[in-house]
Amino acid sequence: MRALVTGGAGFIGANFVHWTRAHRPEVEIVVLDALTYAADGSSLGAVRDEVELIQGDIADSSLVDRLVKDVDQVFHFAAETHNDNSLTDPSPFVHTNVVGTFSLLEAVRRHDVRLHHVSTDEVYGDLELDDPERFTEATPYNPSSPYSATKAGSDLLVRAWVRSFGVAATISNCSNNYGPYQHVEKFIPRQITNVLDGIAPKLYGDGLNVRDWIHVDDHNAAVWTIAETGRSGETYLIGADGEQTNRDVVAAVLRELGKPEDAFELVRDRPGHDRRYAIDSSKLRTELGWTPTYPDFASGLKATVQWYQQNEDWWRPQKAATEAKYAKTQQ
Ligand code: NAD
Ligand code: DAU
Repeated sequence: MRALVTGGAGFIGANFVHWTRAHRPEVEIVVLDALTYAADGSSLGAVRDEVELIQGDIADSSLVDRLVKDVDQVFHFAAETHNDNSLTDPSPFVHTNVVGTFSLLEAVRRHDVRLHHVSTDEVYGDLELDDPERFTEATPYNPSSPYSATKAGSDLLVRAWVRSFGVAATISNCSNNYGPYQHVEKFIPRQITNVLDGIAPKLYGDGLNVRDWIHVDDHNAAVWTIAETGRSGETYLIGADGEQTNRDVVAAVLRELGKPEDAFELVRDRPGHDRRYAIDSSKLRTELGWTPTYPDFASGLKATVQWYQQNEDWWRPQKAATEAKYAKTQQ
């Protein structure tokens, strides 16, 4: 099999390439990535020479057409992904997430290539802290931010191309990922690297918002399961029962790094901040037999803290510019 991986130099995409080299070594991989601020070619590490890395925009329809016609499967990870950035400037989110996905859909339609579209649980909006329900595949779409609205738009485009044009595609909506190679703008890497730099972790609002954490390898194993055994046109939710308040995550990071658990700072809240996400992944588990392999969030977080301690060369170049950006919004 020859696979095109869009966004393969970003956090989840690069981990996907590593996972695929380790577990599906027969697959030839072509990575298409615009190498935006969020990408780092070095995240591909030892497997960099085993894949073809093409720098380009997924909205460039002639480039995408040329690449798609020579592959059997597209794994579509490329996106603008940070909610805070989407509040400052939504424009690249519309370009990449909506127009870019449209360009890929037209190419897979022309060449009859199967697509797996990687999406987010944020398309469902948020839940109250005490809501007994979790998101399922039947939850109505209700996105809050420009980021989640553009991801919702991309999901709906995929569904329409399946129904109207017979495109073979699967969709997954996953909860919050953590693990190595995640940009320091995101919550967990930001707080780990803050503590390593002697800066207090920054919690938005009251710090009681809840996210449902999953290790990136568990997400990527699920993506392969869905691509190989999922039914075309279906959506599968991916989650590992990892609900935590942001305060608890910060306390765990501080504990891991030998600091008092209350050594954090409360800062300005994110406008429109979703309160809670929670995934019910029963469909994926019962229909396709997937289960997460990381035993618990605590051990996965410990390994992630150690990775950032040991890989300062990877994150250091991004740190000052990221914090300068946050300083402008008092976050
Ligand atoms: P990321 O920001 O770390 O990486 C995104 C990658 O896409 C980068 O390498 C970037 O250069 C590339 N890219 C951006 N615009 C592009 C364009 N126009 N053309 C080609 N490449 C472009 O993101 P991530 O956290 O790895 O997320 C990957 C995917 O998973 C996204 O679709 C995201 O919506 C989805 N997702 C993320 C999470 C999470 O917790 N991070 C959870 C669920 C779903
Ligand atoms: O749920 C899946 C989504 O998870 C993905 O679709 C997104 O691409 C990904 O970025 C992530 O979105 P969040 O907005 O949940 O992630 P973020 O890391 O930005 O923030 C996680 C939580 O932590 C959120 O409640 C905001 C809060 N936060 C974030 C930062 C950066 C803080 O309290 N302090 C911070 O400094």
